[in-house]
Amino acid sequence: MLTATACASDDEGETTSGGVPLVAKGTLTTCTHLPYPPFQFERDGKVVGFDVALIDRVAKELGVKQKIVDTPFENFKTGAFLNSGECDLAAAGMTITDERKKNVDFSVPYFDATQALLATAKSKVTSLAGVKTGKRTLGAQSGTTGESHAKEQGFDPVAFESSDAVLNGLRTGQVDAVVIDYPVVQSWLKDPANAQAFRLGEHIQTGEQYGISVKKGNDKLRAAIDKVIKESRADGGYNRIYEQWIGPLPQDQG
Ligand code: ARG
Repeated sequence: MLTATACASDDEGETTSGGVPLVAKGTLTTCTHLPYPPFQFERDGKVVGFDVALIDRVAKELGVKQKIVDTPFENFKTGAFLNSGECDLAAAGMTITDERKKNVDFSVPYFDATQALLATAKSKVTSLAGVKTGKRTLGAQSGTTGESHAKEQGFDPVAFESSDAVLNGLRTGQVDAVVIDYPVVQSWLKDPANAQAFRLGEHIQTGEQYGISVKKGNDKLRAAIDKVIKESRADGGYNRIYEQWIGPLPQDQG
């Protein structure tokens, strides 16, 4: 007896009705690295944030539900969890870089970010130059663009595994200052205890843009993500989640 050969084999995973491949049936599986407020963080036992809201819309477009998996940030550069079929995409406030592009494909940019220096109030440091002249200690999240920037400027920053660990490093005085994405600093400073203990220093215009990554060659999913990003920018959906999670829209918009 002949068996049908036209359909894709099941162990390769599932596809949506639109032909987008998924690693698990009925689910858009997102790898991220927690916490990265305001993009993804836990609130009342749920992972929420800007990226979560954006990818929820992609899931809706595909007629499935988003599931979020927390994985080490190190994976994001190599795309290991995408290649192994653990996740369909990565959404992690992740900057599009040429180095990362060698291993993963990115959506169109969905967010412009800068780096910022955040220092303990008592260090009185306001810039990277000040860290150097004052012989202060600097920290960054390991594997991030903030860390790369600090290294390019000749620093050897203390590497912390997560943004939480970066914040703790400042709190405990292990480091005097850190370089990290500005939106994260903004969200930290909403906590009065942080606002009292730390000072926002210089903005570092690195010209970074965030993208959602997919496995190399997964053009169908990438196209679906791009479509949602473009449509949400056009229909006001993007602005709504921006205001909800980031804050007032930049003045120069529109
Ligand atoms: N934007 C920075 C980068 O791409 C930091 C991202 C860190 N994200 C996270 N979820 N921990 O390197």
